[in-house]
Amino acid sequence: MSFRILGTGHSVPSRIVTNDELSTFLDTSDEWISSRVGVRERRVCTTETAADLAYQAALNALEMSGTKPEELDMILCATISGDDASPSLACMAQGMLGATCPAMDINAACSGFIYMLDTAAGFFARGKVKKMLVIGAERTSRILDWNDRNTCVIFGDGAGAMVLGEGDGYLSSKLFAKGGDSVIKIPLFVGMSPFYDNETLEPYVHMNGQETFKFAVNAMCQDVPEVIEEAGLQQSDITWVIPHQANIRIIDAAKRKMDIPQERFCSNIDRYGNTSAASIPLLIDEMNREGKIKEGDYLALCSFGGGLSSAACVIRW
Ligand code: UT7
Repeated sequence: MSFRILGTGHSVPSRIVTNDELSTFLDTSDEWISSRVGVRERRVCTTETAADLAYQAALNALEMSGTKPEELDMILCATISGDDASPSLACMAQGMLGATCPAMDINAACSGFIYMLDTAAGFFARGKVKKMLVIGAERTSRILDWNDRNTCVIFGDGAGAMVLGEGDGYLSSKLFAKGGDSVIKIPLFVGMSPFYDNETLEPYVHMNGQETFKFAVNAMCQDVPEVIEEAGLQQSDITWVIPHQANIRIIDAAKRKMDIPQERFCSNIDRYGNTSAASIPLLIDEMNREGKIKEGDYLALCSFGGGLSSAACVIRW
């Protein structure tokens, strides 16, 4: 027993920030960002909290699945930019929804959503849950140095959610981590302990872009074929590849190395940028609402990011 997906939802802040707007206060250009990253615009919170995004995405998923909050047995949320260290974003969403089940956050950076699906599959396998809500929600705009053109042009805010029910739609998975903070690091706030004298890095995203890029392409090329084989499928059986939306050139580089037709690799990075743990459920919900995903379709999901971490799985819709 694993799970099947009963409903999906997403939510983004209303404020659109274009590349041209960024170039009014940063030494950058629409041409550079569009061609090197693939982002044309992103959503940025002005008054919305990460909890607001998580809640609205969850409501949309619950509505599609015809599930009431009180029917939920567990809420998980993948995030690295929740509003508070405590309460967790999952607990905030639980309270706003009026649900009564346990709730907790998962941090595996941009790989968080797939790590969370794998965790969810374990709860179903042990028979502990019948319905779960999983949410990827990020307010990355809060953890960016808006003077650093290497990072702030890439990211965006948003949330995606799924309601999971009992079933056998989760076919295979791979989780990977290569620990260390030399490539991506997002320190917490400096704090005020009078006893500690070594905290210097600002609490923003610090990233070696080229090292991350290489790790990401390698991860996609290794992880996706492995989970397809573990699911007992051929690469040509995959209906859609849903990659984490970090850079369109990462997706382009990886898809050239696989035996999956290129038009099956999906993307919406042009409109949202990199929304970290939210990017996969946000993309899936858009496709689902457009009617692009049909019962029986095989989806290969893959992600990579801070940790360093990577993850992939195959889902039958
Ligand atoms: O989700 C978490 C995982 N994150 C990722 O997967 C990110 C992976 N990495 C990337 O997407 C890319 O490495 C970046 C988008 C971060 C950077 O692209 P790049 O093609 O690797 O650029 P680069 O760092 O090699 O920089 C090339 C040039 C540099 O100028 P010089 O030294 O050649 O004169 C940069 O200073 O581009 C410059 N540059 C910019 N120029 C205009 C860097 N950022 C910008 C910018 N606008 N925003």
